[in-house]
Amino acid sequence: MSAIVPRFDVESIRGEFPALAQRVHGKPLVYLDNAATAQKPRVVIDAVTEAYSTDCANIHRAVHTLSQRATARYEAARESVVRLMNARSIREVVFVRGTTEAINLVASSYARPNLREGDEILVTGLEHHSNIVPWQLACRATGAKLVVVPVSDTGEVTLEAFQAKLTSRTKLVSVAHVSNALGTVLPVREMIAAAHAVGAKILVDGAQGIVHEDVDVQSLGCDFYAWSGHKLYGPTGIGVLYGRESLLEAMPPYQGGGDMIDRVRFEETTWNELPYKFEAGTPDIAGIIGLGAAVEWVMRLDRAAARQHEQDVLAYARARLAELSYVTIVGTAPKTSGAVSFLVEGAHPSDVGTLLDTHGVAVRTGHHCTQPLMDRLGVAATARASFAVYSTRSEVDALIVALAKVRELFA
Ligand code: ALA
Repeated sequence: MSAIVPRFDVESIRGEFPALAQRVHGKPLVYLDNAATAQKPRVVIDAVTEAYSTDCANIHRAVHTLSQRATARYEAARESVVRLMNARSIREVVFVRGTTEAINLVASSYARPNLREGDEILVTGLEHHSNIVPWQLACRATGAKLVVVPVSDTGEVTLEAFQAKLTSRTKLVSVAHVSNALGTVLPVREMIAAAHAVGAKILVDGAQGIVHEDVDVQSLGCDFYAWSGHKLYGPTGIGVLYGRESLLEAMPPYQGGGDMIDRVRFEETTWNELPYKFEAGTPDIAGIIGLGAAVEWVMRLDRAAARQHEQDVLAYARARLAELSYVTIVGTAPKTSGAVSFLVEGAHPSDVGTLLDTHGVAVRTGHHCTQPLMDRLGVAATARASFAVYSTRSEVDALIVALAKVRELFA
């Protein structure tokens, strides 16, 4: 394998993440569960602490200084997200609890009012449950049909397979940018164009994509892009729905309550302007301020070098795992990012995960909230190592050494 990218100082980046320095079961932590949630840099932790220690007030509601400061920082986070995704304006950036809520919002406020019997919603066979169940609920409510693009044995969804399922009945498409379970990168740019060619709207589940791919919503041309803050080094419980302004404008509110109103009367209530129409109730203010810090942190990285580094570590992990006769990699698409799923001969993935933990190595095991994908690939569960910008080849080496010890117990 070629040498690591010289411009990218991963050790200095690791130094910004306090959690990475700890030991687990007496061993240095090797955190390879980043697809589930990433660790947080000091700037994010400090931003959240500061939001509570000096600027703790509700937003958009009061004239006093603390409220003004909290509002300014909250809205600055939105501006950061606009720049990260190249949205056209703040009107296209809605803060939600995470990817799941973003998808539910679109299922509720776009799919339910616009779809009827005979219409189809298209998803792929590798989707996360959060990108399946909201559409099943919308189908149940509207009489629309859920259509599934098949996944290949290698864990890919080809453009050809996708196009074969697109028809004039397809009204909405919802696809992952990157598979959380296998790391497969989907050809979303081409899928977006194909969906638009039949007149369908398209949502991209960017829970993993926002972390590992460059996302420019204007260049991609998607109608909606959903993601969570906590996988992008931000706090848990907050996320973003990007939506094309004309669509968001026409959609009814998702929830009613404070902040989303213009004027409330018992006879009739009118809605606040975008994006506030979709932000009912007091949000996770400190979380969003933390998200703003995370987004700014990410934008300060040399993104090209960071991507190259992440790809190097992933390719190294796939190559090292492939050398082990007792390991089978699940999901071997030519284009992957962020994760590798695997099985260890003779050992259940949950035992693999538990034993790896005793060596300080954290991986996720199970169905990864993708039961239909597991069924398709004929496995009940896998172990998954997933990477972040701070992951290293030596962490992969530690995983390989620990796997050999796991194997000794089961051989
Ligand atoms: N969806 C997250 C994962 O893949 C939680 O682990």
